[in-house]
Formats: sequence, C-alpha cells, structure tokens
Amino acid sequence: MRAAFIEELGPPDVIRYGEIAAPRPGPTDVLVDVLAAAVDPVDAFVRSGVFRTHVDFPFVIGRDLVGTVAETGPGVTGFRAGDRVWCNSLGHGGRQGAAAEQAVAAADRLYHLPEGVDPYAAVAVLHPAATAYLALFVHGRFRVGETVLVAGAAGNVGSALVTLAARAGARVLATAGARDAAYCRESNAAEVFDYRDPDLAGRIRRAAPHGLDLYVDTSGVNDLETSVGLLARRGRVVLLAGARSRPVLPAGSLYMDDRSVVGFAISNATPDELAAAAGCVNDLLGRGVLRPRRTEVLPLSAAADVHARLERGELHGLRVVLRTDPG
Ligand SMILES: NC(=O)c1ccc[n+]([C@@H]2O[C@H](COP(=O)([O-])OP(=O)(O)OC[C@H]3O[C@@H](n4cnc5c(N)ncnc54)[C@H](OP(=O)(O)O)[C@@H]3O)[C@@H](O)[C@H]2O)c1
Repeated sequence: MRAAFIEELGPPDVIRYGEIAAPRPGPTDVLVDVLAAAVDPVDAFVRSGVFRTHVDFPFVIGRDLVGTVAETGPGVTGFRAGDRVWCNSLGHGGRQGAAAEQAVAAADRLYHLPEGVDPYAAVAVLHPAATAYLALFVHGRFRVGETVLVAGAAGNVGSALVTLAARAGARVLATAGARDAAYCRESNAAEVFDYRDPDLAGRIRRAAPHGLDLYVDTSGVNDLETSVGLLARRGRVVLLAGARSRPVLPAGSLYMDDRSVVGFAISNATPDELAAAAGCVNDLLGRGVLRPRRTEVLPLSAAADVHARLERGELHGLRVVLRTDPG
C-alpha cells in the first residue's frame, strides 16, 4: 500500500511517500481502507521526536482518519465490512499511524461516522473536538451554568471548545486576535477580547466579576499569574499547550480560594474517555454544528510539504486533510 511514513525521527523532509507492507488486523482489530487523514500539530511532534512515544520503523505518520471497514478480526463485534468509521488515536503508543491507504485500529478506538457527514470535514475536527471535550468535561470538570474562558478561541481546539461549552450551557468568554473576533462570535462566544489589549485581564474581570469557573488555555501562553487570579473560588485552569513555558504560579491565590491548575494530553486518554468524547463529537457532527473553519484537501504525497508549512506557522485557521485517492 502507499503511505506517508518515516524511517527515522527528524524534520519534515524525513517523511517519505511510497509503498510499504499493508498491516494485518489482530483478533480484536479492524482493518480500515483510509479515505482521509488529518494533519495535527502532534503529528509533527511525534515525527520530530519532541513527543516521546514508541515508534516502529517504517512508521506511518498521522493520528486521525476517516475510512471504510475492510476486514474485522474474529473477536470484533459492532463493525462490518463497508461501515464508514473514524479513529483519532493512531500514530503513538506503539500504534502505526493514519496516513496510509490502509490502517489497523483496535475496535475499542474506532467509531461509526454518522450518516450524511462529509468525511473530509469530519476528519479535520476529530482531534480538536475530542481534545475540547476532555478539556471541558474530564479535566475541567465543567458544570452547567459555569463561566468558561477559552484562550485562543479562534484556533482549532479553541473554536471547538467554544462550540462545546456554549452547547453544554456555559457562558463563554473568548480571547483571540482582533481579526478573529467575528469568527469566535459565530462559534457562540458571548464576549470576545483581543489578546493584545493591554487591559485584557481588567476587561475579563469586569465581564466576570464573580470570577471564572474554568480557564482553558489553548494558546500555550500559560500566564498563571493572570489566569489563576481571574478564577472564582474552586475555579480551574486547564493547560494543554506551551510545553516549554515556565510560568510563575501564585501559590497563595491558588490555595486560599481552593483553585486548581491541571494539565493533560489527549494521548493519555483511556479508550473509555476517548469513546465518551467520540459520542459527543458524533452528536455534534450529526447535527451539523461542528465544522472546520477552512480545509484544504491534498493528496497523501503532500505530507512532507504540509508538515513544513505547519511548522512555519502557515496554517492559520486552516486544517489540511490528506486524501488517499488521487482526487
Ligand atoms: N494537550 C492536548 O491533548 C492537545 C491536543 C490538541 C492540540 N494541542 C495543542 O494545543 C495548541 C493549540 O492547537 P490548535 O490546533 O488549536 O492551534 P491553532 O489553531 O494555531 O490555535 C492557537 C490559537 O491561539 C491564538 N493565540 C496566540 N497567542 C495568543 C494569546 N496570547 N492569547 C490568546 N490566544 C492566542 C492564535 O491566534 P493567532 O493566529 O492570532 O496567533 C490561534 O488562534 C497546540 O499547541 C497543540 O499542539 C494539545
């Protein structure tokens, strides 16, 4: 089969496109004919070695796919050849990746794609939306009626967070660049603040005088001095990006008001947590309320070039999807 793969960790140009042996499913696995794979920031972290995880070479890159079931292992129930499915946890933890004509997924990491949903649009939102679910409901312990601030609300994860939180009954405040304010409102943010405003913290404080219940930082800025200070009693800050940031933690402000700071990576999510996220993602996909802002669909052979563009910061507001057919 044809695949985008690497034989060593390194920069984008270590990605090769060509023939490698097709995978075979184990007893509880499903073999998927891949239609499309997304390109996520984490794919670049795995490829470069920044994200340490077990990889066997040749290693197929990519985490998320949409495809069609080709074959099921003898112990698999719930999937049949021809089913349209998706997976968002390949390409790490010893699992081969998604960017190939065929991929094997464990049945408990595979989900049906709702009828009528465009597979190219779907594959673009799986990773950000599942991340948003975990940030909000698992690690952020969101409860109906709370006030949630999403930092980086125009980004892939941020816009999914705004959508999920607003639908779950949050009052959503957002920070974004001024050019993205209208987009954040379309995603249902109640108020949007320019992250370059010198009085940003003051504006947020006036918009939420009783404090924020949840502050999710997708920007990776991780200014805890500010974010912890903006929380209500028992408020939570969720960190998920900015691996190299070294913020100052205001300890008194944290413990004197029962506040907490928690971090997570979707890579560590259990199959049960991922399945819960998938249920939410499928519900929103089926209702047509979870959509990527902009997608570009390219052939699988473009993978190395797309990784280079991603690392040069050229994909603002754009999700690139790699298709396996020539198009
Ligand atoms: N932990 C996990 O499980 C997990 C899962 C998925 C993604 N991630 C990570 O999450 C991060 C976001 O991913 P993404 O795909 O959503 O990226 P993205 O689409 O580039 O979004 C990042 C957003 O942050 C905005 N931003 C930059 N500086 C800001 C600031 N000071 N205040 C507020 N917003 C600011 C950016 O706006 P501009 O365009 O104006 O700069 C952009 O809209 C990445 O680092 C990714 O690796 C982590």
